[in-house]
Amino acid sequence: MVVIYPGSFDPVTYGHLDIIDRCSKKFSKVIVAVLNNKSKKNLFTVEERVELLKKTLEGYDNVEVDTFSGLLVDYLKQKNCSTVVRGLRAVSDFEYEMQMALVNKKLEEDMETLFMVSSGKYAYLSSSIVKEVALFGGNISCFVPEVVEKSLLEKIHGGKK
Ligand code: PNS
Repeated sequence: MVVIYPGSFDPVTYGHLDIIDRCSKKFSKVIVAVLNNKSKKNLFTVEERVELLKKTLEGYDNVEVDTFSGLLVDYLKQKNCSTVVRGLRAVSDFEYEMQMALVNKKLEEDMETLFMVSSGKYAYLSSSIVKEVALFGGNISCFVPEVVEKSLLEKIHGGKK
């Protein structure tokens, strides 16, 4: 089964990578779909987010990185796929995730959202938290791969810590 793992990935963290890794073992193909939304304030451009994902996902034969804009259900139709995976960290995620899943279902009856529970060790992790820690000079090496850490520090501090 082919599944789509959509998100902002601004930037990709070990939490995302854990979900992608586990999905790659359960499903025949995983399409990581990066939202290209000009109105959403992202630190990284869509090209940079894709590049970081591609670099960190080298070696996965059944994982593809793509971008989408507009409605997720339309992208799914375009890809001829009807299953989306979302990571679920804590109860706080639940309300928003449930709302999205139900709206998507209303828009496209055939679409299913599967929730994969985050590994305990990443349950606290989010791109926003990583950006905040980096902004104030904290160590982010346990939250993101080296290539992401470098890009993040470059973006925030112009390479200087
Ligand atoms: O990583 P994020 O920001 O939590 O991902 C959210 C995402 C990209 C999955 C969601 O915002 C999305 O699917 N946006 C596309 C627009 C859409 O389809 N909206 C209707 C469902 S809420």
